[in-house]
Amino acid sequence: MPGVVVVGSQWGDEGKGKVVDLLTEQADVVARYQGGNNAGHTVMFNDKTHVLHLIPSGIFRPGKQMVLGNGVVVDPGALLDEIDSLRRAGVEVGDNLKISDAANLVMPYHKAFDKLREQLRGAGKIGTTGRGIGPAYEDKMARKGVRFSDFHPGHEQKFCERLKEVLQEKNVLLRSHFNDQDAPLFDVEEIYRRQLAYYQRIKPFLCDTSALLNDALEAGKTVLFEGAQGPQLDVDHGTYPYVTSSSTVAGGACTGCGVGPTRISQVIGITKAYTTRVGEGPFPTEITEGPIGELLQQRGQEVGATTGRVRRCGWFDAVVVRQAARLNGLTGLAIMKLDVLDTLETIRIGVGYTDSEGNHYDSIPHWLGSYGGLSPVYEDLPGWNTPLRGITRYGKLPRAAKAYLERISAEAGVPVILVSTGPRREETIFLEQG
Ligand code: GDP
Ligand code: IMO
Ligand code: MG
Repeated sequence: MPGVVVVGSQWGDEGKGKVVDLLTEQADVVARYQGGNNAGHTVMFNDKTHVLHLIPSGIFRPGKQMVLGNGVVVDPGALLDEIDSLRRAGVEVGDNLKISDAANLVMPYHKAFDKLREQLRGAGKIGTTGRGIGPAYEDKMARKGVRFSDFHPGHEQKFCERLKEVLQEKNVLLRSHFNDQDAPLFDVEEIYRRQLAYYQRIKPFLCDTSALLNDALEAGKTVLFEGAQGPQLDVDHGTYPYVTSSSTVAGGACTGCGVGPTRISQVIGITKAYTTRVGEGPFPTEITEGPIGELLQQRGQEVGATTGRVRRCGWFDAVVVRQAARLNGLTGLAIMKLDVLDTLETIRIGVGYTDSEGNHYDSIPHWLGSYGGLSPVYEDLPGWNTPLRGITRYGKLPRAAKAYLERISAEAGVPVILVSTGPRREETIFLEQG
């Protein structure tokens, strides 16, 4: 199995971290291809919980190569903090981490603009993570980004001239567009000095990761491409404008790592057994009143791994997961957090939507993000009323739980290959084991 992409199927936080950590055992290389430290991927083992924001979730497996591809936006300070905290926890981070020198940096002004823009949006805010991700990708596309390769020795003066131009524009915008005469101005010298210090520490990790990954694939090694966020947060396919600023779908692995589509042989969709969303934007199957939304939030411990915000919770939305199957070309589903539904008498699945005039929708219209207004059509399935935590064999699942999984699989048109019954490594059913 040469190139395997692991992607979210919903609005992120599906449990990608747990699955990537598990699959790394059989892989050689794990590469992140988009997003930045807006991601929060949780890996739990030996009664310890680790949350990763930039470093791939395979880092806990000795002898495996981790990669940050060119499509990731890297906040150098946040990266170094993450490396330091992993090392303090006894995790090796050295030659086993390689970072693309073509990756764009999240600069201090990107974070400032992210926060200011959200303030200006007021009630129409996106609810970003405030990590500067959107502004960093904007500058990348506007060809005003800063990349690690810009620090190449011997070109300091040229780099500073370019940075000065970029900052001139930022400072004009800060003072006029944001109408804030007291906004502190960004200073070229100060920013250059700090970023150069970060660069000196990050330099040993830098290389052409496209070459590294293609060499690994050529040598028959298995590469896992770890997606961040999910398809409903994809900048093209998600509930725009309530999305992140990168290509979260499987195709992003190719552009974000510099590998061709012919290298990808499997795409695994990580799918929560219900639905959650952090931040603003439409969420048709959200449960906004009554005890069930709160039950999902509490049993599922649905609190953002990056920002600590409470996640909005709702029923499983088959429309969303059908779309995930189409956008990503999913070959297998990993159904996560099935145990969270243990106590429910009846479990609902959203299978379509209707609008106020009674029109039916089988797929998500592209105007949903802007205008909302669709209600889900539900089907009800019986719950199983049995604790699932710790079950590791498919055959041991109650009949109602199997029926629920089969229903999800049929809706998506994709086989279930893994079921997760708890956050720990061992609380997992691999379907081949029966
Ligand atoms: P990611 O962003 O997709 O990696 O997901 P997050 O780490 O943000 O959120 C998933 C959360 O669910 C984490 O706290 C995991 O420890 C937890 N988790 C993963 N699988 C299971 C499961 O099967 N059952 C339960 N109860 N929790 C799980
Ligand atoms: P993982 O990889 C869930 C959401 C934010 C906001 C929108 C835009 O852990 O699944 P941004 O800061 O990216 O500009 O915010 O995207 N968001 C996530 N939601 N999981 C994530 O990552 C997310 N990363 C960003 O809440 O709604
Ligand atoms: Mg997360």
